[in-house]
Amino acid sequence: MSGVNKNIVILISGSGSNMAAIVETSIQQRWQARLKARVVAVISNKAGAQGLAWAREQGIASHALDHTQFSSREAFDAALMVEIDRHAPTLVVLAGFMRILTPGFVQHYKGRLVNIHPSLLPAFTGLKTHQRAIDMGCRVAGATVHRVTSELDHGEILDQAVVPVLPGDTAETLAARVLTQEHVIYPRALERLLTA
Ligand code: GAR
Repeated sequence: MSGVNKNIVILISGSGSNMAAIVETSIQQRWQARLKARVVAVISNKAGAQGLAWAREQGIASHALDHTQFSSREAFDAALMVEIDRHAPTLVVLAGFMRILTPGFVQHYKGRLVNIHPSLLPAFTGLKTHQRAIDMGCRVAGATVHRVTSELDHGEILDQAVVPVLPGDTAETLAARVLTQEHVIYPRALERLLTA
């Protein structure tokens, strides 16, 4: 692909629907022409991740790096950095990557590392965000795209989407409503970052 010079590496752990939304946006003419960016690799810490098979089918370089094969978080992150850096990334995009990253990793990608979190940060960092929002009686929930710092689910907010919490919602129904909006805001936030 001539003239494309900004590489995006996406890290996933599961279904990879955000990754797919980003890939599908990135192949649009607008992205190709204006942003000169493309998704060059998808890496998962789980070999069986559904999203990895999808990426492979799209012809995107796909790798699994099983974190259970490493003796420490630092050793895993070091190997992950080697794999990522082979692709000379402009952006490293965490899309449902369910691993806490070491400060060394975060520092290495300072200014290039972004994440999506399924809550309206700074509320509900960590896990089980949808159930916690329901339990607290929140009337709205949502998702946040943010820069990654060594503090979990902190860092500059780049974009957010808000959805209603409806009577009778379960964590699953709310998660599904939030996820559809994640697919809108993540590509949009990346587009802004790549344009800046
Ligand atoms: C998304 O809801 C994302 O916000 C969340 O995992 C899901 C991944 O879905 N991320 C986190 O909880 C990170 N702490 P996907 O694999 O279909 O994109």
